[in-house]
Amino acid sequence: MVHWHGMHVPEEDDGHPKDVIANGETYVYEFEIMNRAGTYWFHPHPHGRTGPQVYNGLAGLFVVTDDEEQRLKLPSGEYDVPVVLQDRQFDNNNQLVYLNRGRMDRMNGFLGNRILINGNPDMKLSLKSGCAYRLRFLNGSNSRFYKLAWEDGTPLVIIGKDGSLLDSPKSKPYVMLGVAERIDVWLDLKNRPQGSQMIMKSLSFSPGMMGMMGGMMGRGRNNLPLGSTYEILKINIDKTGSNDFELPQRLAEFNKLDPATAVNRNNPRTFRFFMRRMQWTINGRTWEMTGFTDEETVKLNTTEVWEIVNSGGRMMGERGWRRDRGEMERDRGMMGGGMQMPHPFHIHHLQFNILERDVSGVDSRIWNSVKDGFIDEGWQDTVLLMPGMSVKLIMRFEDFKGLFLYHCHNLEHEDMGMMRNFKIE
Ligand code: C2O
Ligand code: CU
Ligand code: CU
Repeated sequence: MVHWHGMHVPEEDDGHPKDVIANGETYVYEFEIMNRAGTYWFHPHPHGRTGPQVYNGLAGLFVVTDDEEQRLKLPSGEYDVPVVLQDRQFDNNNQLVYLNRGRMDRMNGFLGNRILINGNPDMKLSLKSGCAYRLRFLNGSNSRFYKLAWEDGTPLVIIGKDGSLLDSPKSKPYVMLGVAERIDVWLDLKNRPQGSQMIMKSLSFSPGMMGMMGGMMGRGRNNLPLGSTYEILKINIDKTGSNDFELPQRLAEFNKLDPATAVNRNNPRTFRFFMRRMQWTINGRTWEMTGFTDEETVKLNTTEVWEIVNSGGRMMGERGWRRDRGEMERDRGMMGGGMQMPHPFHIHHLQFNILERDVSGVDSRIWNSVKDGFIDEGWQDTVLLMPGMSVKLIMRFEDFKGLFLYHCHNLEHEDMGMMRNFKIE
């Protein structure tokens, strides 16, 4: 089946794992596009198989425009360029390799050792001097995430994130692009001479992998460890042209949802991402095909605040973990230490606003290596949680009742069951 990542669609069109399409069967998706202009994407979602299916090629962009965006006269046509980032690994016969380290790849998430851009291994784009571009980045990797920056220190100019344009362009030294996240980047080549080159890199950062397997993460045979420095993309400015696209100082109108309108404003629902009995969980639970609890039941036409906590960094006795103490003590005993990892949180069916990002539980070495790379404006559907981080999100449930998903978008974690239903009723 197909899931339309970020789109606001009815349950039967959302690509729920219970709605798999068997071999030889046909299924017709038919829905109205209700989303704002933004960069969305699609991929299958069969439980336990999303990782391999995306890895083998089933993923693509789904671009939405609207009148508000059209009025801004942003770069279009050949000047609106998709950049889908994925990492892959090939064997000696040039065949894809997946989960070759078995359980460790599942626990940590699979990392390839080569970067593909739009499915191509040469990592090159050829663009024109004298022109402005809109580059739409999607991190379509299974578990790898990036600290994107131009090699020559040119700031990244961000005009969009996930499901919206920003209200105004934001200039960043680098951007952390978690799995499944999208950013729209403005690239001005007006004063870049023909024959020159721009290189985008992923800069080094501390991913904060700790615990039984953390130390081995990305080492060994992988020559592209998570958090190391490597090239992502070469832009060869090998032609000349001209266009008159100008970067607008005001982009999209945008009202954040108002926390005063949330039904649980002072008592947010809390979802903790942590490991229990050698299994990644959300609040200690794992996937059930149609199961959901009261904690996962919301009312149509309400606005809520959800707090998402990556408990990893808090297992050693900091605040916020007391409720899970018994479990965690047991796990620590079993594992000889806490297990912590970054988790990209994603929720189906809606776009949220980030109200607050609490980093008080994040190790300062981790935080200092990523802190200038987060974009908390705009409408988003995926948010990267470094170990110990928690975020408060505000979201509204409207138009459709039904059963939808929220999960970790590290695809190996998702396939292992770090995914749950929520019910809108
Ligand atoms: Cu890309 Cu459940 O989603
Ligand atoms: Cu989704
Ligand atoms: Cu995860």
